[in-house]
Amino acid sequence: VDTIRIAEDSDIVFDGAAAALPARPGREAVAVFHQPGVGAEIADEIAGGLDEVRTVLHELPDREAAKELDAVGTMYDVLADFNLGRHDTIIGVGGGAATDVTGFVAATWLRGVESVLVPTTLLAAVDAAIGGKTGINRRGKNLVGAFWLPSRVVIDLSLLSRLPEEILREGSAETLKAGLLADPAIVAEYERAGLGADLEVVVPRAVAVKVDVVRDDLDERGRRAILNFGHTVGHAIEILAPLPHGHAVSVGMVAAAVISNARYGFDHRWLTGLLFDLGLPVAAAGVSLPAALEVCQRDKKRTADGIRMVLLRDVGDPVVEVVSAAELEGAMRAVGLS
Ligand SMILES: NC(=O)c1ccc[n+]([C@@H]2O[C@H](COP(=O)([O-])OP(=O)(O)OC[C@H]3O[C@@H](n4cnc5c(N)ncnc54)[C@H](O)[C@@H]3O)[C@@H](O)[C@H]2O)c1
Repeated sequence: VDTIRIAEDSDIVFDGAAAALPARPGREAVAVFHQPGVGAEIADEIAGGLDEVRTVLHELPDREAAKELDAVGTMYDVLADFNLGRHDTIIGVGGGAATDVTGFVAATWLRGVESVLVPTTLLAAVDAAIGGKTGINRRGKNLVGAFWLPSRVVIDLSLLSRLPEEILREGSAETLKAGLLADPAIVAEYERAGLGADLEVVVPRAVAVKVDVVRDDLDERGRRAILNFGHTVGHAIEILAPLPHGHAVSVGMVAAAVISNARYGFDHRWLTGLLFDLGLPVAAAGVSLPAALEVCQRDKKRTADGIRMVLLRDVGDPVVEVVSAAELEGAMRAVGLS
């Protein structure tokens, strides 16, 4: 695959990051927001290739600090000083924090301008930069945001193949999740090679799974919910432990697999082994079970009769079901909460 189309005027392109931006009539200026480190190098390369237009580069704070309101305000200031107009373009380079905040700023600047995202972590490439959800943090993660599709997402597989192991591991939880939901070939590749899974195989496939799910549900009313596999218990653990997102989702997938086993005979031990071999946590001992239940009760996915959770009847066969508090508690105990 070279290109996956998510909507008219929104493509995901597998190519070198420097090739991020095809010329477009009417565009006079480009602002590049980038993370420190690798993001800065790529931003320089991109700007170097844009000799037809005015460019400005701005370095974001690293990680979640980029999604704080004062940092967002500085981004608007940069755009105002630079006089970025309605027909101009904003590029975001970095992990999911950078792509989330850049997407948000593009969605809101002048009520919406073109954005291009260049994800540099595995998690951002298969998840954060795909699907048009943008967000910033205020009194909680991603409570402020907008749906805004980038005109293109550029995924540089050779860049991702040089990622530090820890960043690769974190992103592998969401990549494997895509396989569990809808593509056994991703799962097979992780079974074959663990963290050494061929990114040329798993990344385009995981992107295709997410695109397929969100394409007809861009504002998240229906089927998009299956992407929350592992995220009910995972979200609680992410907050309470706290653990990095991918690690928390790993534990959350085990918890969901335990309920899937009780209901449908899904082999939760097999999944636990697969995650363990990736070096991902499969339990979160020390996290308070009552506190985790409390977080789940407050969750957006709650309904009147229980908590809606994504379960697996089999690999490639997810269902969204209401589970009781007792079932949820049992699954939490199974992953070490007490
Ligand atoms: N919008 C969505 O649908 C969606 C989905 C999932 C996650 N997210 C968001 O994504 C964010 C997490 O993204 P993340 O895991 O990419 O973390 P991140 O953006 O915080 O980056 C993690 C670290 O990796 C570094 N880094 C980035 N690229 C690198 C590279 N090529 N080599 C070495 N280091 C590199 C960064 O500088 C940073 O220190 C969260 O804010 C989360 O809310 C959004």
